[in-house]
Amino acid sequence: MTKAFFRRCFYKFITSAGAVSVRTKIMGIVLGLVLLLGFTLTWQVRQLLVKALYEQQHQEAVALTRDLSARATDLILINDLYALQVLLQDTQRNYPNVLYAFIIDKDGYVIAHTFDQGMPPNLIDANIVQNNDYEHTVILQTSEGYVWDTAVPIFGGNAGIARLGLSDYQVKQTVNSITGQLLLTTVLVSVLGISAAIFLMWVLTRPIIELVDAAHAVSQQNFSHRVRVWAEDEIGRLSQAFNMMIEALERAEKERAEREILRAQYVQGVIAAQEDERKRVARELHDSTSQSLTSLMIGLKMLEETCQRCRKLERVSELRNIAGQTLEDVHSLAIQLRPSVLDDLGLPDALRRYVAEFQRRYPSLNIDLAITGFENRRLPSEVETALYRIIQEALTNIIRHAEAQTASILVECRANSVLAIVDDDGKGFDVSSKFYQDGHLGLYGIQERVELLSGQVEIESELGHGTSIYVNIPLAATTKEVFYG
Ligand SMILES: Nc1ncnc2c1ncn2[C@@H]1O[C@H](COP(=O)(O)OP(=O)(O)O)[C@@H](O)[C@H]1O
Ligand SMILES: [Mg+2]
Repeated sequence: MTKAFFRRCFYKFITSAGAVSVRTKIMGIVLGLVLLLGFTLTWQVRQLLVKALYEQQHQEAVALTRDLSARATDLILINDLYALQVLLQDTQRNYPNVLYAFIIDKDGYVIAHTFDQGMPPNLIDANIVQNNDYEHTVILQTSEGYVWDTAVPIFGGNAGIARLGLSDYQVKQTVNSITGQLLLTTVLVSVLGISAAIFLMWVLTRPIIELVDAAHAVSQQNFSHRVRVWAEDEIGRLSQAFNMMIEALERAEKERAEREILRAQYVQGVIAAQEDERKRVARELHDSTSQSLTSLMIGLKMLEETCQRCRKLERVSELRNIAGQTLEDVHSLAIQLRPSVLDDLGLPDALRRYVAEFQRRYPSLNIDLAITGFENRRLPSEVETALYRIIQEALTNIIRHAEAQTASILVECRANSVLAIVDDDGKGFDVSSKFYQDGHLGLYGIQERVELLSGQVEIESELGHGTSIYVNIPLAATTKEVFYG
């Protein structure tokens, strides 16, 4: 369980550390290392210092007490208590660390001391020295800190005991001041380290940030952006390689754009040629073929009238009917190819005629046509032709593929665009499959025509739920160079 807990903590740390920027990481590492080093060193130095100074304190306490004991011997032997008191006070005055000093005679009575307000209770028993001891030191905890209380027998214990208390005040002061200095040094080194880290980060991350900016620019098709090469190091070489990559992308994009323009021009040319040819054939059918067929019909009618009793009268009537039917077919074919009404009267009338003709030919399909917003308004001829052809193709598809009952067509002319929607309730198809394969160029042609006019097309279809084609062509953006004859 603890293993899983540590692993979870570790992953949490890695995830949160991974989420911060490189700058923060470098700062964190530098600051962490400096602080760790500084605090560890300070702690270690403090420990060593305390040990050494306390040892020294101990030795000093022993030396001072032994000195006191030696100098007190004669005074005790001659019983000069006054001189003994002066000796104790001199010792305390000369050594500020000496907190107290007193002499105990061989019967255990204090015969001289430095306490102004009398001997503190329990102090005498706090440090017991045997007569054969060289010295005996105990560390006492008092309200004034630790005190090294040393006892030294005087004259082998025959003249009493000299006791001296050495305060650790000085030691504490020294240790604290050195610790303070070390901590100050740590803070200064941290500040220096952070400044160095900031500079280092600036040097290291600046090119990387520029690379990131350049990558963003490239992703937004801006190929003019270049990364500055700051140095000849690894990052510098990466920047150079990145610049080369942008140049290659720029070249490729330029070539692609040129190819796209060529393709658009080619498609435009093909469509224009197709429209021209349709127009020519339609005119030919109307001017020549229709005229000939009309003459033929008139001739046949005259023949019919002149030989009312001819044996072949029935045959002549039959031929006249065939000629009439052919004339109608030619007429319908001419409308399909290129209705002159599209040029003469505009899109709404041409569409109405086309749909009426279509309805007549396919009575099983119920066609609903709505045209709005065209009041006395003519669209650019390329837009009219494109919309006419798109609706023609959509209706043909409905008859050929949809098995629909109803088709509805809406053409709406707005201020800056024209919208066309062709819906059917037929069987639908899978739009995600590639519908413009070989030989199936109808929907592809719709897309091409709309894109050439900077418009949008959307084909929505679902199996069993019919098909809808939405076309939107902007009118302001329509350029005159797009021309279909
Ligand atoms: N209204 C529609 N209803 C059902 N399927 C359609 C419809 N329009 C197009 N399709 C499907 O999309 C395919 C591609 O249509 P299209 O590009 O016009 O080529 P084509 O009509 O020559 O087959 C058709 O073969 C047909 O399967
Ligand atoms: Mg088609």
